[in-house]
This record gives sequence, C-alpha cells and structure tokens, in this order.
Amino acid sequence: MNVDLAGLRLANPTMLASGVLGYTAETLENIAENGAGAVVTKSVGLKPRDGYANPTVVQASCGLINAMGLPNSGIDEFAKEIRSAKKVLQVPLIVSVYGFAEEEYATVARKAVEAGADAVELNVSCPHVKETGSEIGQNPEILAKVVMKVKTAVAKPVFVKLSPNVTDIVYIAEAAVKAGADGLTAINTVRAMAIDTETTMPILSNKRGGLSGPAVKPVAIRCVYDIYERVKVPIIGCGGITDWRDAVEFFLAGASAIQIGTAIALKRCNVFKTVARGIEPYLKKKGFESVNEIVGLSHRS
Ligand SMILES: Cc1cc2nc3c(=O)[nH]c(=O)nc-3n(C[C@H](O)[C@H](O)[C@H](O)COP(=O)(O)O)c2cc1C
Repeated sequence: MNVDLAGLRLANPTMLASGVLGYTAETLENIAENGAGAVVTKSVGLKPRDGYANPTVVQASCGLINAMGLPNSGIDEFAKEIRSAKKVLQVPLIVSVYGFAEEEYATVARKAVEAGADAVELNVSCPHVKETGSEIGQNPEILAKVVMKVKTAVAKPVFVKLSPNVTDIVYIAEAAVKAGADGLTAINTVRAMAIDTETTMPILSNKRGGLSGPAVKPVAIRCVYDIYERVKVPIIGCGGITDWRDAVEFFLAGASAIQIGTAIALKRCNVFKTVARGIEPYLKKKGFESVNEIVGLSHRS
C-alpha cells in the first residue's frame, strides 16, 4: 500500500482533502490516527480571513455545496498549528496555500515549510473567492508564474490543485507541470448553487458555492483520466470518494493517491481505514502486489 508522491512517502494512498477538519493540529492528528496516509490542512493565506457569513454549507442530494470564503487565521498564526502537528504526526503534513498574487503564494509556502510542512498544495481552484483560487487556476500564464515563484521559494514538493471549472483541465495541468509542479491534485469543487423554495432566495450567503461528494465523482474521474494521458507527474485523485471501490476507480483512471473530504461529514472519520482495508483484498484477489500496479490500468488498449 506504500506510495511515493514526488519523494513524499505514504504508508497508504489515502489522504485528508483540504478544508475538511484540517484547521488544527488536534484534528489533523485525529485524522491520521483514523488511518489517513497523509493529511492536507485547510487552505491558509498571508492574512487572517473571516470567511463568509452563514449559511456556508448546504446539503445537496448527493453531496454538499459550500462557500466558506476561505476562513483562516493567516500563516503567522497557523504556523503554530503546523509546528504542533509536526510534533505528533507520523504521516506527511501538506499545507494548502492560497494567495492573491504570486508573491503571496510564495511567502505563505515558505513560512509553511519553515514551520515544518513536508509539502505544499497550491489552492488555485477555490470556486467562490474573487481574485484567488480558480481565477488563478483558470489562467495558465498566471498559474505558471505562481508555480515558478513557489518553486524558487521552497525545497519541498509542490502540488497544484486543479479546478474542474475550466474548458480544458488538461491544458491547465500541462501549464502547471511545465512551470515545475511536482504533482497535481484533481479536483476541487464544481461551481454550484441551491435556492430555497420557501424564501425564494439562494441558500448560501455567498449565493454560489462549490459542489463536493458523490455527485462530483464521475467528473473527477474524467479529469484524472484525461490528465493522466498527458502528464508524467503523480496525480492525486479527489472528489466524491466514500468507499474503496471509488478509490480503486481513481487509481485505474491514473491517480497515484486519493483524497477524501465530504465523506468524513457524510460518513465518519474512520473512512480512511475502511477505504484502505478494502483496497488490500481487492489487490490480492486480482493478483497485484502493489497499489502502484493499478495506477492508470484503465488506459491500456
Ligand atoms: C466544507 C469544505 C471546505 C473546503 N475547503 C477547501 C479549502 O480550504 N481548500 C481546498 O483546496 N479545497 C477545499 N475544499 C475542497 C475539497 O478539498 C475537495 O477538493 C472537494 O470537496 C472534493 O472532494 P470530496 O468530494 O471528497 O469532498 C473544501 C470542501 C468542503 C466540502
């Protein structure tokens, strides 16, 4: 079950997705104890942000729509959580970083690594905060500048988290890799909204948000499949994984590891253990010795 993500060694290929419980050292430790092979923090920026007023999350038929507005304490305060987490975590700690300019991404990434991050994941795909997130991840020129700046600022692996809310995700993936990304995470949430039939108004205070959970899994699988055909760096699959079969589908599409977010809310924290425990017997039954042997297997002719 061991995987190597651009030099980052994971004892199993399940990871906590950014933004779901990754706010404190305590919750990161809790998720690791529940079997995650690596953990990703909530996205952190240069300055503290309150995020949006409630409601920030609404349940859809097959998932959640959220517009949290990137609430976070800012990297200087969050560095304390990173340091505390590093003291107790037995698994790699990846810090998710966002910014409003390339220098901001680089500064936050550098401070995160100085505090102990084993890698950074660049959130260039948040669908509901203006001038960051997907506004950067939709533009290959700006994205490339961000990646290059971060690469010169840190000596740890840099993963780029891609948005599905683009015309051609492969084009963006190639731009990120060309600029030096060590790996890609696909996908962030899918732009969405919900309207209350009683009040006749949008439910989220931000009106628009991002859809996650089982509803987005087929979109995420298609993104991973398409990216795998064109790039050589490891892909981390994310979107709607709730059980081991979902995870295996991502590996077959081309993911080297997977992230889980919404299933923690819909199911339980021990989803990492149950997913990992399901993959092992599947590999044995099919005659594979390692999870790495099934990465991209669905691409053979
Ligand atoms: C409540 C919530 C908050 C999120 N916050 C972040 C975030 O801060 N940064 C980020 O890159 N992704 C964030 N995401 C997106 C998830 O990391 C993930 O890409 C997406 O939810 C799809 O995976 P899932 O279906 O397993 O949740 C958030 C998702 C949810 C549901």
